[in-house]
Amino acid sequence: MSIAIAIDGPAGAGKSTIARMAAKELGFIYVDTGALYRTIALACQRANVKTDNTLEVLAILDKTEVKLAFNEKNEQIVLLNNEDVSSLIRTPEISMMASSVSKIPQVRAFLLDLQRNMAKTNNVIMDGRDIGTVVLPDAKLKIFLFASPECRAKRRYDELIEKGMDIKYDDILQDVIDRDYADSHRDIAPLKPASDAIEVDTSDESLEESVNRLLAIMKEHI
Ligand code: DC
Repeated sequence: MSIAIAIDGPAGAGKSTIARMAAKELGFIYVDTGALYRTIALACQRANVKTDNTLEVLAILDKTEVKLAFNEKNEQIVLLNNEDVSSLIRTPEISMMASSVSKIPQVRAFLLDLQRNMAKTNNVIMDGRDIGTVVLPDAKLKIFLFASPECRAKRRYDELIEKGMDIKYDDILQDVIDRDYADSHRDIAPLKPASDAIEVDTSDESLEESVNRLLAIMKEHI
């Protein structure tokens, strides 16, 4: 039987960085489910479809195939109709559009089997918003990672500046606040800790401290 670890939490709490490092240490596959919603958003953007227009988004889904693959470094690659779009889905606009398409029940259903199948055949650390509550309710360990909005905005700002993007901290903070609100107030699979999740606040920790804390929790539970 494969082992699944679910990590949920708001954008910028450090989920992806921590999950990626922990997966490497444990020899698990790291699955970033946000990339799947981002890929649907990219398909909409390319077709000039507004993500609040459910019917048009559903028409896009009909023409869309999303697949996950792993490169030689065991890093996740996401394929939109067989094109590697992994680096095209990391813009602030796609972030907002992903949050918007993720409210549509058919979009969530469309991506569900893909996520569950990854966990059937591999030991995974899977990160997202509803992994512990919906996607993998029987996960061996569930972690809910969070940090203050200001702290998460600062981390995302630093990350994007390093990539050479021209952005303002205040805009990023507003995005974080708006996206938190949208993700935790939607009707379907809202962002919330599973009742059996361990809640971890990373606000006052360095990345290294968070990784070590999480690794200790994981090693204790698996
Ligand atoms: O983790 P991320 O920032 O890449 O996610 C992008 C958006 O996708 C996020 O605003 C909410 C949505 N999402 C979701 O609804 N469920 C998931 N399991 C992962 C992401």
